[in-house]
Amino acid sequence: MNMRTQVGIIGAGPAGLLLSLLLAREGIDSIVLESRSREEVETTIRAGVLEQGTVNLLMEMGLGERMQREGAVHHGIELRFDGEGHRIPLSELTNGRTITLYPQHEVLRDLIAARLNHGGHILFNVKDVQLFDVSSHQPRLQFVHEHEQMELQCDFIAGCDGFHGVSRASLPEAIQTVFTRFYPFGWLGILMQAPPSSQELIYAYSERGFALVSTRSPELQRMYLQCDPNDDIAHWSDEMILEELQLRLATRGQWQLRIGPIIQKSILAMRSFVIEPMQYGRLFLAGDVAHIVPPTGAKGLNLAVADVRHLAHALTLFYKEERTDLLEAYSTTCLRRVWRAEHFSWWMTSMLHRFPDDDPFQQRMQRAQLEYTVRSRAAAASLAENYVGLPFEW
Ligand code: FAD
Ligand code: PHB
Repeated sequence: MNMRTQVGIIGAGPAGLLLSLLLAREGIDSIVLESRSREEVETTIRAGVLEQGTVNLLMEMGLGERMQREGAVHHGIELRFDGEGHRIPLSELTNGRTITLYPQHEVLRDLIAARLNHGGHILFNVKDVQLFDVSSHQPRLQFVHEHEQMELQCDFIAGCDGFHGVSRASLPEAIQTVFTRFYPFGWLGILMQAPPSSQELIYAYSERGFALVSTRSPELQRMYLQCDPNDDIAHWSDEMILEELQLRLATRGQWQLRIGPIIQKSILAMRSFVIEPMQYGRLFLAGDVAHIVPPTGAKGLNLAVADVRHLAHALTLFYKEERTDLLEAYSTTCLRRVWRAEHFSWWMTSMLHRFPDDDPFQQRMQRAQLEYTVRSRAAAASLAENYVGLPFEW
């Protein structure tokens, strides 16, 4: 069966879904192809922190109603080391900007509902997506949906299919440069049924490794522990996880970790990755398919949002005014912000984790950086500016 659309979008993650909504707002037609089921997309636990710019965009698009009701606005974060907490007052340091804690899968639920309610097309459970003629003016997508072989003819293809997606492979090797860094540790993430232990996120550096206290709702808490990236989650009993959290988060003061049943646990590897350029012919890459950051800076979802905002704007000017300059500049425009976020995420990761081969000198360097960050207003402001998110027009 043959179909036609203006923009064929691969992937119903934050990048693909938001792009389809941004385009619809300008009267540009798109179809989203997603390999997973709607239920899986709407329940997979991932990010939690939304930058101010991401929140503003969702609100401006009329997609922020539930986020405003159920999300939590935070004005600061805590850096904890040597048994003491130090507050970084994000809002005070950034002219009142904030972050919002609202889970990624809830954002996705809101985006899917909005798209489907307005007659948009999202095909879930598609198989074997293949890209053809991406360097021509009539690129095509072939795939299998409900056992039927389909072809989608497009003006443009947006590869929004995440790190393990297929679209990146359509960039000829001769024109691409890939940058990768693997970290010698991973994160063990848990969901715990307990009240919050803190009003704000806690990023803790300890001799035993990094720990992070985040939240999902007043009843559900999200926490992470630095661990061996090759470790098997089966080696971590709930008791071990709780003990390790207590040890790494211990303070000299009154603070106590509030605990409850652990209802989910998993280990994720950490890497930095960028492919340049983010465009070839009529194929545009957006989000994790083009760049990965370690989660310490909470930037991944927010970068995906920034990419598709640029892409939607460039496509709009193409259709309305036949302008191609913004499409041509897409990769360069996005990569400026991508590399800033890559540096910030790498910097936060390097400052807060124990490295297996670190020596006393390296540990003193980390300590000096932490001390400077919490004692110098300029250093704290730099962290804050990056954490709440730089302007889209960066
Ligand atoms: P994805 O969300 O990966 O979406 C891609 C979609 O494409 C998926 O639904 C996938 O099923 C689909 N797909 C893949 N291949 C195909 C194919 N061949 N055909 C069709 N469909 C396909 N970011 C933050 O900003 N803040 C945070 O606090 C944060 N915390 C995180 C914590 C964890 C534990 C993890 C793992 C990530 C975190 N991130 C965070 C990163 C964030 O989740 C990602 O950057 C974000 O999901 C990227 O969105 P995306 O749309 O580019 O890709
Ligand atoms: C999360 O809540 O999942 C989270 C928060 C902050 C991070 C990473 C993940 O830096």
